[in-house]
Amino acid sequence: EDPRLPRIASTIRVIPDFPKPGIMFQDITTLLLDHEAFRHTIDMFVERYRDKRITVVAGIEARGFIFGPPIALAIGCKFVPMRKPKKLPGEVISEEYSLEYGTDIMEMHVGAVQPGDRALVIDDLIATGGTLAAAIRLLERVGAEVVECACVIELPELQGYQRLGGKPLFVLVKAA
Ligand code: PRP
Ligand code: MG
Repeated sequence: EDPRLPRIASTIRVIPDFPKPGIMFQDITTLLLDHEAFRHTIDMFVERYRDKRITVVAGIEARGFIFGPPIALAIGCKFVPMRKPKKLPGEVISEEYSLEYGTDIMEMHVGAVQPGDRALVIDDLIATGGTLAAAIRLLERVGAEVVECACVIELPELQGYQRLGGKPLFVLVKAA
């Protein structure tokens, strides 16, 4: 195993009963406090994607905005934010997705991603996979090819990868 992985895993703080009882919140803000762990995290993604002809890193609000941009800069491609509704000022396309209770909407600027783009989708964590699945649908609707989804943390018990329509998923840390 890569010796950087246990270092990264050890910096992720788990906060019980946040935001509600029974949820073990995986807090990556403590990873960001450890600049070596943060650098290792970015480096491991960059090493995996630098030769995959990625043309766009699509980062999911909120914490995909932390990990996505340094990856895009290092591999040399554009960064596109996938946002909560009514945040983006230009023309958007929207995709509804299901949460544990109810639904949410993800939006992306029209024209930011184009047919033929090769996309890497980045978020901090995959739980049920519904969020990444919505991002994949948005990107495919505008003609992009989703090469892979990547997260720092997976909650493997929820088997969220099964909702990704066969798209590959790469994660650094599996939460216990
Ligand atoms: C969390 C997490 C992922 C998503 C994963 O975000 O950051 O984006 O849930 O869940 P899923 O795999 O079941 O879809 P959240 O929706 O809490 O919003 P935030 O990132 O804006 O805090
Ligand atoms: Mg999120």
